Amino acid sequence: MSKIYLTTAIPYVNGAPHIGHAMDYIIADSYSRYHKLLGDDVRFQAGTDEHGNKIYRKAAENNLPVQEYVDGNAQKFKDFIKKLDVEYTDFIRTTNEDHMRRCQKIWEKLSDHIYSSRYEGWYCAGCEGYVTQTEYDENGGICPDHQKSYEKLSEENYYFRISDFKDQIREKIENDEVKILPEFRKREMLKLLEDSPDVSFSRPTSQLTWGVPVPGDESQVMYVWIDALSNYITVLGFPEEDISEWWPAAVQFVGKDILRFHSIIWLAMLIGLDLPLPKVICSHGHILANGQKMSKSIGNVVDPNEAIEKYGIDAFRYYFLRHVDTFTDGDFTWEKYESAYKTELANDLGNLVQRLATMAHKNGVKYDISDKDSANEILKDNPDYKVMMDNFEFSKAFDYAWEKVQNINKRIDDEKPWMLAKAGETEKLEDVLKSLVRDMIAANTLLVPFLPSATEKIKAVFEAEEILPPSTPLFPKD
Ligand code: MSP
Repeated sequence: MSKIYLTTAIPYVNGAPHIGHAMDYIIADSYSRYHKLLGDDVRFQAGTDEHGNKIYRKAAENNLPVQEYVDGNAQKFKDFIKKLDVEYTDFIRTTNEDHMRRCQKIWEKLSDHIYSSRYEGWYCAGCEGYVTQTEYDENGGICPDHQKSYEKLSEENYYFRISDFKDQIREKIENDEVKILPEFRKREMLKLLEDSPDVSFSRPTSQLTWGVPVPGDESQVMYVWIDALSNYITVLGFPEEDISEWWPAAVQFVGKDILRFHSIIWLAMLIGLDLPLPKVICSHGHILANGQKMSKSIGNVVDPNEAIEKYGIDAFRYYFLRHVDTFTDGDFTWEKYESAYKTELANDLGNLVQRLATMAHKNGVKYDISDKDSANEILKDNPDYKVMMDNFEFSKAFDYAWEKVQNINKRIDDEKPWMLAKAGETEKLEDVLKSLVRDMIAANTLLVPFLPSATEKIKAVFEAEEILPPSTPLFPKD
């Protein structure tokens, strides 16, 4: 049994969760459940990123005291994660007192690499980030993500000397000591690292008040990313507690847009703190809606609650884990979602369970569970699946498991148990049905990381003393 720590990006609480936010959680949860099948002990962090100007402004727009505003939205994320059938162990909020105090201690520990200086240049209020002259020129002075003009800024603040760590980061990424996935993003990160200037680590309180105060300087608060990145270790108790039982993380899941912060600033911080680096940083692509980036101004943001309510959580996880490639962008349309539910989940899996359980019941077949049906044995029998899961290729592993489901359907069509029943070949019929049930249990086990709720129900049907078909269809079509 190994101990596995895995982390997810902590979303900003400047609005309600959208379908894109689900990706971090459901891929992390699939990985976590896979490790639990292997018998590992998993610690799973989730949380919310609650500081920064954007959130502060949103609270004001909503006429709410900022703490009240973030409390409400943090709860929405918590409820959302629960709805996703995601089993986390720790939930961290960056406005939490322990987190803020530990962040200040982290700052102090990094102080040899921090210096104060004046920034003169461009700034994007939407990104809350500085913009280089090259970026400014390339984007014609307008932020492509926020469609707002960059502002000119001159301010005093603290910088983190990335140059102190560049060689070590490069070496560790190149040697896969910290594995950046997918491979094409690793190359992008190495290129970005070369060009990366020192990063601003704070903002003057004239610019930003809603953040963690810089220790020993009342005129500055920490830049939101320093506070946010620290969550992965403050949640374990660092630097007040020994975190070596869980750290380094086995994997940190992030979206492609924030991989750069994790590959440069975060790794530099860890080296500066003398901590080992995570073994893997796995970045997923983004979800588009009808081929377009989701945005409130276009009005195409898909509410995950609506998608979950319509067809259930299994349908939601099914769509995003199988029909969205883990590493590249994926698309959501209601048509595709509905078709995946009706023609795949309901037909391939739902009907199969009903059909097979009915046949087994009618013919009085009992299936005795043995060691051969244990998760460990099933995983051993499917080494290709294991390799895919170990490589974080969730959609491929899901395809693999689904093929098993389709094979059982094909076997039923080919072996026609009802003909054996008609011909009175009871012994052969029993053998065929038992073997189909065995295959069903194996396929179901491979689906556990992706569809925890449905697989639980399927397990209850086929692993019971008496096989009984579900009284209501697993995936109703109306
Ligand atoms: N607060 C930062 C993360 C700090 S981590 C120390 C942030 N928040 S976010 O709310 O913008 O994004 C949270 C996560 O959701 C990120 O992993 C991001 O990539 C992911 N996604 C946001 N929109 C997404 C899609 N449309 N599709 C898939 N993932 C998306 O960045």
